[in-house]
Amino acid sequence: MKNEQNVLPTTDEHLSQKEIIRMYAKYVSKPKATFFKSLSLGVVQGRREGLHLYSISGHRKKDPPIDLLNCRTSGGVFNFGHRNPELIAALKEGLEKGLDIGDHHMISEQRALLARDLAQILPGNISKTQFCVGGGEAIDLAIKLARAFTNRKKIVSAIRSYHGVTGLAMAAGNERFRGPFHFDFPDFQRVPFGDLDKMLEAIDESTAAVILETIPATGGILIPPPGYLSAIRKRCDECGALYIADEVQAGLGRTGELWGIYGGIYPEERVEPDIMVLAKGMSAGLYPMATCSYRPEIEAVFEEDPFLHISTTGGSELGCYVTRKMLRMLTAPGFLENVKVRGNQLEEGLLSIKESRKDIITEIRGRGLMWGLEFISDRFGIGYTLYMIQNGVFADYCGNNEQTIKLMPPLNSTEEEISEILRRLTIAAEKLPTINKQGGDK
Ligand SMILES: Cc1ncc(COP(=O)(O)O)c(C=O)c1O
Repeated sequence: MKNEQNVLPTTDEHLSQKEIIRMYAKYVSKPKATFFKSLSLGVVQGRREGLHLYSISGHRKKDPPIDLLNCRTSGGVFNFGHRNPELIAALKEGLEKGLDIGDHHMISEQRALLARDLAQILPGNISKTQFCVGGGEAIDLAIKLARAFTNRKKIVSAIRSYHGVTGLAMAAGNERFRGPFHFDFPDFQRVPFGDLDKMLEAIDESTAAVILETIPATGGILIPPPGYLSAIRKRCDECGALYIADEVQAGLGRTGELWGIYGGIYPEERVEPDIMVLAKGMSAGLYPMATCSYRPEIEAVFEEDPFLHISTTGGSELGCYVTRKMLRMLTAPGFLENVKVRGNQLEEGLLSIKESRKDIITEIRGRGLMWGLEFISDRFGIGYTLYMIQNGVFADYCGNNEQTIKLMPPLNSTEEEISEILRRLTIAAEKLPTINKQGGDK
């Protein structure tokens, strides 16, 4: 019902889980509410801290909140867990320093400082950064830059990839997210990830850029074969095409190295892209932040019109302050070493889960704290997702590869936390039914 007086209720309302779901269905998304209810997952996110994400209450009102270990981390948004105290302190400090979003047209100290910090740690001579609100927008900018800089149109990407739902990012991604919108951009060619021959064939003198997630995450945590990324780099150089690395999920320490493309997949393979896109974890879980960073020559695109790409709330000064703190934590001595050690612990545990459920798990693959567990079919990927959640692990199947579930716990997870995640995953795997020869559940 409309409120003719335009008097809105207080912002300090507390609703029950049931009321929230009802209101969400009415005002936000009925299909989404129905989806979660159909899976008996009427879970509304409530208190959260570190690795833990609690529901507002249990499935029934009288049940206690469900404690979920967040191994989804929204693809790395919560790389430092939920509500990390040091990052919250940085956000408060930024406010106390008098920062707000800032005017995006004016020169900004915070943007200059964050761009300088990034230039010091990004691969090769990538040293210029433009700021965006989200990953899709930053990918759009990367593609725009590549097209303007090379004066070419063709973009080569990977089937099953996901780069966002904005225009050009959507065009580069998988059919699933384009189909219903009649979005059939010309000059976008998609090839299977990992097939070097098909990729090299696609890159030619009309190619503006190749865009790849270093480890396609939504595609199922696909690990590029050795030499694949460097061969693409070489071919781009031969043809005058640019290489855009989408490290929205695989970057920022996820693989145990700062960058997946630069030693994170194979220590000896350090590929330098022309453009690197970051998002998700750049927010530190507190303030939206995405960046498109590139080699200095590419800046020529803005020579005539420096206001050619505009993002009003992109690169908020307050957000920059928090992101800079996050980068300091990420690059602190020993931090990445711990990601590697915890990654080995996770890998070992996943291998033993695979061993015990050889009947349904076909492969585990990953790097650092980014792992995919592949099942024999989509049905098992989706089924295991439900069992994981019911047993206290929040993770899900990959949107463009439903037979694979994705595990990305916070980068600062402790030994005890990884053990507890593995304990719960093992229980979920033990409970997952097998299929009999006729294909029915046992
Ligand atoms: C690899 C990758 N690139 C780009 C994006 C788009 O980021 P955003 O959702 O912030 O637009 C995503 C989001 O999931 C992603 O996983």
